[in-house]
Amino acid sequence: MTPTPADFRAHFPICAHKAYLASCSLGAQSDRAADAMEHFLGRWREHGLPWPEWMEVTERVREAFARVIRAQPHEVAIMPNASEGAFQVASTLCWERRPGIVTCDMEFPSVAHVWLAQRSRSARIEYAPERDGLVEPEDYVRLVDEQTGLVSVPPVSYRNGSRLPVEEVTRRAREVGARVFVDAYQAAGVLPVDVRRLDCDYLVAGTSKYLLGAPGLAFLYVRGGLVQDRDPQLTGWFGRGEPFAFEPRRLDFPAEARRYETGTPAIPAACASVAGMSLIEELDPGRVTAHVAELADELTEDLRRAGETLYSPLVPERRGPMVAVAAEHPEDLGAFLAGQGVVASPRGRAVRLSLHYYNDSDDLARARDAIRAYRGRATG
Ligand SMILES: Cc1ncc(COP(=O)(O)O)c(C=O)c1O
Repeated sequence: MTPTPADFRAHFPICAHKAYLASCSLGAQSDRAADAMEHFLGRWREHGLPWPEWMEVTERVREAFARVIRAQPHEVAIMPNASEGAFQVASTLCWERRPGIVTCDMEFPSVAHVWLAQRSRSARIEYAPERDGLVEPEDYVRLVDEQTGLVSVPPVSYRNGSRLPVEEVTRRAREVGARVFVDAYQAAGVLPVDVRRLDCDYLVAGTSKYLLGAPGLAFLYVRGGLVQDRDPQLTGWFGRGEPFAFEPRRLDFPAEARRYETGTPAIPAACASVAGMSLIEELDPGRVTAHVAELADELTEDLRRAGETLYSPLVPERRGPMVAVAAEHPEDLGAFLAGQGVVASPRGRAVRLSLHYYNDSDDLARARDAIRAYRGRATG
């Protein structure tokens, strides 16, 4: 039987005493992830050199992510972070013939900065603008033409949880023969992310947010390995066909996504992430998305009625797993909420309250009451 939100919540000790609403920044620690980290430490302490186990966990985490995004394991490279995933993609592309990179104002800087750095290699960066917390499909689509080499579109923005028009953008990119890069870090784990349906060429996501792993690990999906491009410019022994052949004079790039890898992966993060993703995989993805959407509706309505200005969309179809409360001093509000047992994530001009399957209406009430107390304190 599919676990209920209450069953799921029982795996996260912090949820017993706090309203944990910061999964957009770091997922709550599960009992399973904690056990996996303990196991890692124990094996290192007692066994001394558990390389075979480490390599096994590396493959298990790759396979788990591949299942989450409906890809094949050979299409997934293990990365230390999303930035490096973006860099590896850029390094294989040439911008002379098609210099355009189309992105948007709601892109996370990790990825956005890698695109900007391509200007020194002749790329031209264009932005679909943010308008009232949203990016409209037509603003993206009109920038994409035969000069465009790459279109970068996140399904959900880190800023306010708004959903971006990935389908429309991808359709346009296909019409003109541009490649598509998707940063799904703010969606994977709670919203459907299916690379075949998205029809993207590349996708990155890391383990530390809604996928409930630990920081230090990310993935780069590359459609079918895309081996016809330039070789990746960052490399290392894990990027070889046979890393354990230790051949310093041979530089071969396997015909699969591992060609984008560099050095030793973050094993502790892989251990925690296999455990975290195992919890996600036991859930019915449709129910997770529906639960999160219900909570987002409820919190949006509550906060709106309380007179709060929201930076996240009011329209449910444009809303992801987050409600963002506008604040003059977001860090101050975030610290006040923390003091009230509400873990939230301030960023930019808002405090982000993000939702996972482990959250419930009591968490929302606690957040709402704490925000009311903060406003009362500020004006009283
Ligand atoms: C959408 C998105 N992409 C990427 C990142 C992180 O990038 P990196 O793994 O390079 O630190 C974050 C948050 O930290 C994010 O929200």
